[in-house]
Amino acid sequence: MKLAVLGGSFNPLHLGHLFLADAVLSELHYDRVILVPAYRSPFKLAAAGMENSARDRLEMTAASIADDPRLTVDDCEIRREGVSYAVDTIADIIRRYAPDEKPGLIIGDDLAADFPQWNKSDEILAMADIIIARRLHSDTVLNIPYPCTHITNDVMEISSGMVREKIAAGAAWRYLVPAAVRAVIESRGLYGLNPRPTESPAQSLILRVEAAARENLSLERFLHSRNTALMARDLCRRFPAYKLDPELGYLAGMAHDLGKQLSEKELIKLAKSDGRRILPLEKEKPSLLHGRASAVLLKERFNVHNEAVLEAAALHTLGGKNMGPLAKIVYIADKMEVSREKVDPAVRKLVYTGNDLDKIFVMALEQTISWLRAKKLKLSQDSINLLEKMRRSSG
Ligand SMILES: [Fe+2]
Ligand SMILES: [Fe+2]
Repeated sequence: MKLAVLGGSFNPLHLGHLFLADAVLSELHYDRVILVPAYRSPFKLAAAGMENSARDRLEMTAASIADDPRLTVDDCEIRREGVSYAVDTIADIIRRYAPDEKPGLIIGDDLAADFPQWNKSDEILAMADIIIARRLHSDTVLNIPYPCTHITNDVMEISSGMVREKIAAGAAWRYLVPAAVRAVIESRGLYGLNPRPTESPAQSLILRVEAAARENLSLERFLHSRNTALMARDLCRRFPAYKLDPELGYLAGMAHDLGKQLSEKELIKLAKSDGRRILPLEKEKPSLLHGRASAVLLKERFNVHNEAVLEAAALHTLGGKNMGPLAKIVYIADKMEVSREKVDPAVRKLVYTGNDLDKIFVMALEQTISWLRAKKLKLSQDSINLLEKMRRSSG
């Protein structure tokens, strides 16, 4: 897999960013562009305070790539906090994605001349291929004193600052950003706009579940839920034969850990109401009930009655007999999403490229069981039985 990284504040992400990512994919034949919203940019004079908008910027970026499987959003800079240096991000991306060759790092020609002054620019050059995109100079070829590749993208006259100013001034701005970004700006009332409720009930359900996850979970857990949701949505699209609605994948991924912050008492109470018995292992370690509790919350608080979504949330912890495809997908996404540190690169690659869902599921299950064994934690007999059954059936 050939990866390129496009970092930025994305405040907000606009069409110029996506146009640029597309130009790199088309012109240089990369397989995937990873968009990395900065927590705090080392460049911007106004960087102080930009961390306050990190979640909004991340959500807009995530929303904007929804219908393009060649794009990924990675929240490593936001999880890392502090000043977002490219050198740390590139090292982190290489470690987690294990790309086949050096990743590309896309920078605008407005920043290119100062690149040698970036933090540890020599290390960046050793790890990544620098791709210089046109931002200001549509016809001049810059003389750059380090190895790099130029792309010949057209310059789009849009900047995030321009979008923000137009919103604040009540001028036209809506079609400078992807529709999904516009929806986030409008529904949240960002940049001084009056919030407006979204119109589609499915979208507003997702926004409500997201809001609950944001409020009730730690930042780390919320970001994990978002990553799980994005990966589940991707996987639903990658396996069209199962006819899964990618938005339901997103919903199930976003909701799967809703119960995570509850007390043991609350977990037991909620899990009991799903009508299934509490397993001995669950009794011993009630935190294992958080998946079942999440499913009950989805049903009772959010009025979700889609059995596949409820099953996916309920079974993501221990797995279960006869899991449907959505439950397998959420199980995989929960264990393999981009911020999970201990994923074997070969397994991660299979998650992105494999064409047999059951095979990916077996690998996710095997990896989880071996993590638990390494930590000397108790295994559920159900998980072991399930793995044996899946191994038999997938040959
Ligand atoms: Fe979980
Ligand atoms: Fe999880």
